[in-house]
Amino acid sequence: MIRSTILGLGSYVPDRIVTNEEIPFLDDQHVRQTEQQTQTNDEWIRARSGIEARRYVPNDGEWPTSRLGQIAAERALADAGVDAKEVDCIIFATLSPDIHFPGTACFLQTRLGISGENGCACYDIRQQCSGFLYGLQMADAFIRTGMYRRILLVGAEVHSHSLDYTTRGRDVMVLFGDGAGAVVLGPEENDDPTSGVVYTSVGADGSGAMDLYLKVFEIAKAPFVQYDWKNRDENSIMYPQMNGKRVFLHAVRSMVVATKKALATTGLTWEDIDWFVPHQANLRINEAVAQYAEIPAEKALNSIMFYGNTTAATVPLTIDHWRQAGKVKKGDLILSAVFGAGYTFGAGIFRV
Ligand code: UT7
Repeated sequence: MIRSTILGLGSYVPDRIVTNEEIPFLDDQHVRQTEQQTQTNDEWIRARSGIEARRYVPNDGEWPTSRLGQIAAERALADAGVDAKEVDCIIFATLSPDIHFPGTACFLQTRLGISGENGCACYDIRQQCSGFLYGLQMADAFIRTGMYRRILLVGAEVHSHSLDYTTRGRDVMVLFGDGAGAVVLGPEENDDPTSGVVYTSVGADGSGAMDLYLKVFEIAKAPFVQYDWKNRDENSIMYPQMNGKRVFLHAVRSMVVATKKALATTGLTWEDIDWFVPHQANLRINEAVAQYAEIPAEKALNSIMFYGNTTAATVPLTIDHWRQAGKVKKGDLILSAVFGAGYTFGAGIFRV
């Protein structure tokens, strides 16, 4: 039977490391000032979120999300031994697209040199921190039906340009970083139910939509953008808004439920699974999930300390980080659980 399998993996983070010591001094151009701009500090950020640093793209107008996605994608293609010209479908998960439309997958296609009259299918998906697992489910379904043979699934974000670098925005601003991760998927003739992509299940609860959002515009209104550049400090549509406590509670509950359901449905146990890779929003969330879902501590992988929350990129970025560190090995079985704005959530079990 045809099953889908991950052929290669890659990730990318920008060079600039912004530490918790530096972030209170950044202005809205990310330039370090001598005077503190935001009332926050390393102790608070570390204790509440586990984050120690995050990465930022240069602020030179040359780093749209598709460029981070391109580097991660090229690394994943090289890892898979697949030529970009073989890609017949791109699925791009992001909440920070290059522009409003067209979708970022189209820009990535051109960056990869594979656009043209016979260019491949390009999907953008909008499931925020759950985007990678939503995309994995789509890719798995496409491959199993024989629709596509070489799918490039990318999660990438540029967050640093849409954060509020003042005390008013500090609850959200300190959490997010820029980064990208990608995988290449293809078909494999295999009857082993624990090979390749073993399981995916995703869902959403739209009643939580306004607990974490970034408006930028409201199409129900005319003019649909109400942005006074002279009064940017007062303009909340430019920045993400979050009810942190509610999101925290739902994240823990949803990821515990999704993890338990994944094990119950597949009949697998932690004996079978090599690594637990949760979405990276807050180390305290992940520690609580590990506790309530009874996940062996040594099997949980986190990378939020180094990169903050990179939304759609966190799962492939975390796997690739620990692969480069020598922990994750080819063929390891991963259980991943995610939760994000929407609310959206899910879990997946797959070999890398
Ligand atoms: O990826 C999508 C999913 N996102 C998440 O899952 C995020 C979920 N939420 C969280 O991770 C946490 O709620 C936060 C890290 C955002 C906040 O942690 P918290 O323990 O819930 O803190 P809080 O919001 O209750 O704030 C406690 C205090 C407040 O001050 P008062 O009212 O007690 O005087 C905040 O104003 O901490 C203050 N505060 C800060 N202080 C220093 C909020 N942000 C900061 C900050 N630095 N950056």
